[in-house]
Amino acid sequence: MIDNTRPAPPGTEPEWLRPLLKPDVPARVSSAGYLDVLPDHDVAAPNRSQSLWLSGLGPRIYLSLVQPLVRLVGAPPGPGALASGLRLAPGASVLDVGCGPGVITAGLAEAAGREGRAVGLDVSAPMLRQAAAVARPNMGLVRGDAQDLPFRDAVFDAVCSTAMIMILPDPSAALTEMTRVLRPGGRIAIVVPCRGGGLVGTIGAYAGRFAGGRMFGPDEVAALLEPLGFDLIRSHANDMISTTYARKADA
Ligand SMILES: C[S@@+](CC[C@H](N)C(=O)[O-])C[C@H]1O[C@@H](n2cnc3c(N)ncnc32)[C@H](O)[C@@H]1O
Repeated sequence: MIDNTRPAPPGTEPEWLRPLLKPDVPARVSSAGYLDVLPDHDVAAPNRSQSLWLSGLGPRIYLSLVQPLVRLVGAPPGPGALASGLRLAPGASVLDVGCGPGVITAGLAEAAGREGRAVGLDVSAPMLRQAAAVARPNMGLVRGDAQDLPFRDAVFDAVCSTAMIMILPDPSAALTEMTRVLRPGGRIAIVVPCRGGGLVGTIGAYAGRFAGGRMFGPDEVAALLEPLGFDLIRSHANDMISTTYARKADA
C-alpha cells in the first residue's frame, strides 16, 4: 500500500507520483526531489515576468516583494479559501498548475489530509527547489509545461492555478489541459489579475503590461471555461483579482 504520510527521502520523488504521468513521458528525478519531464535546455520565456520566475532570483523576489504586495492590495484567495472553493475533501488529489514557490500547494496538501495528495507543477527549476523546501509528506513536484501537462486523463479530483495563465501565450491551451486531467465532477479554481477600476486597478494594469502579462476581464475566465464542459461556474472580482470556480460536468 502507498504511504502518503512519510516524506520521500531527499532527492527522491513520492512513490505515488510517477504513476500519474502518461506512460510515454520520460521523467527523471532532480536532486531537489521533483520529477523533471522537460528537456535539459532552457525553456523560452514569453515575457519579462516569466524571465524573472525562471531566474535564480525569482523565488526570493516573488516571496519577499511580489506576493506580499499582491496580498496587500489585491487580496487574492489563500489556500484555505481555495480548498473550500474546490470542495477539497480529505483524501482528495489536487494539482496546482504554476505552483511557484509552493506556498499554495503546501496549504492544499494540508487540506487534502494524510490520505490525500497535492502535486505542484511549474516550469521553473528555481521555483520548484523553493517549493521542495516547504513540501509536505503528501506533496509531489513536477517540472513541466502547463500547456502540455504530462499527466494521464482524469487523475485529479481538483485543479488549481493562481497567477499563472496570464503569463502564457495561449491561456486556453492550458485550461484545456487542466480540464483533461480533471475527473468528471471535479472542481477547478483559476485566479488571474483583472482589469478593475480605481487607482489599484490602474496601477495593476500598468504593472501587468510592463511584466508582459495579460489582464483579464472580470468574467473572461468563466467564458473560457464554459465551452470546455464546466458547470456551476462562479466568478468574483475586485479591482485587481478575478477568481473563478467551476465543476467539470459529469460525463
Ligand atoms: C506569479 S507565479 C505564481 C505562483 C503561485 N501560483 C502563487 O500564486 O503563489 C507564476 C508561476 O507560473 C509559472 N509558469 C509560467 N509559465 C508556466 C508554464 N508554461 N508551465 C508551468 N508553469 C509556468 C512560473 O514559473 C511561476 O512560478
